[in-house]
Amino acid sequence: MKKITMSHLLNGKTLDILLPVRRDEINHFIKYLSQKAKDGKSVELEVALGKLTSNVISRMVTGKRCSEEEDEVKDIMKIMSDIDKLFGKFNLSDHIWLCKNLDMQGIRKTSLDLRRRFDVLMERILKEHEETRKQKMETGEVKDFLNILLDISEDESMEIKLTRENIKAFILEIFLGATDTTARTIEWAFAELINRPNIMKKAVEEIDRVIGKNRLLQESDIPNLPYLQEIVKETLRLHPAGPVLYRRSREDCILGGYHIPAKTTTFFNLWSLGQDPTYWESPLEFRPERFEEKQIDVRGQHFNLLPFGSGRRMCPGISLGLMMVHVTLGSMIQCFTWKVGKYGNLTSVDMEEGKGLTLPRANPLVCVPVARLDPLPLSV
Ligand code: HEM
Repeated sequence: MKKITMSHLLNGKTLDILLPVRRDEINHFIKYLSQKAKDGKSVELEVALGKLTSNVISRMVTGKRCSEEEDEVKDIMKIMSDIDKLFGKFNLSDHIWLCKNLDMQGIRKTSLDLRRRFDVLMERILKEHEETRKQKMETGEVKDFLNILLDISEDESMEIKLTRENIKAFILEIFLGATDTTARTIEWAFAELINRPNIMKKAVEEIDRVIGKNRLLQESDIPNLPYLQEIVKETLRLHPAGPVLYRRSREDCILGGYHIPAKTTTFFNLWSLGQDPTYWESPLEFRPERFEEKQIDVRGQHFNLLPFGSGRRMCPGISLGLMMVHVTLGSMIQCFTWKVGKYGNLTSVDMEEGKGLTLPRANPLVCVPVARLDPLPLSV
């Protein structure tokens, strides 16, 4: 499954083919912010960013946006949010052995119900795709992930036959892995910038110098924006959207000097790793410049910074995730200056963490955008 993901879905070629989808959605997002700026209205960033990442993933996976009215993909997002809520819950049966077969809080029942709802929905979407696939193949229309997976499932030469169940699990995993992680990383980065006008100013200056004011920042600009890259790394260090990794040992092994018996689940706390005072100087300080001194990246090779994990279970969406985070954050600060709070009358935002699998903020981040560029430069 991982091989298929890496070689067919999230590889450079498919991501390039689907670039227009991402561009279109970023334009949509910037236009939305621009309208808010004209009306002098505030934006709840968690919601706006959640819609953006969900629409990108939804279009890449199913070919459809999910925030349109009466669209079935919208139901997927509802299911995803219900799953996220379930993940964040304390389950008594997991912790007290005597209760392990009881379902006192109804968590198992809710899980099964969610699974059934997802299955019904996926069946509907899959049937629709099967009907339109041949037509799309003839017209040479751009494929989405579901079409690619259906092609693979019919390929007799594949090492392992991809079943319908596999495809459904695949889609669920991609939605869960991609949407909140990306949106929350952007939101934390933005909150850090709001609280640090000096860093914000330096980032804006870099963007103005490298890109100017007549066109919108694009994915191909990222290599030329080293300071923006440092900001993203620093955000992933302090706010990793997947803060805990786990592995289950198949056999006895020694890990970091500890004996791990077979069939033991070991947890790795990425959140503490990024704040380890024996490696990071003043670890709680948000200081992107530290990456000028330390040549360390986030691609799973430097074990003091692993926001995407490492090894064979490492995040397969790292390239897509990083592109989305840089471009969205960069465009937000290129096109607007920002006032803080519902009425734009605050000077800073709180940085309290909430509960949940993907490290949400405890309190919503609400800001009022103010247009900086006129006319608004949109990508074509
Ligand atoms: C900033 C954004 C993201 C962050 C911080 C992030 C983080 C992570 C982390 C920490 C893991 C666990 C890795 C491990 O166990 O070693 C993971 C797994 C995964 N991620 Fe991401 N991710 C992001 C974006 C994405 C995107 C955009 C996609 C898909 C389009 C994606 C799909 C997945 C999948 C499918 C897995 C499970 C891989 C497996 O179990 O083998 N992620 N991600």
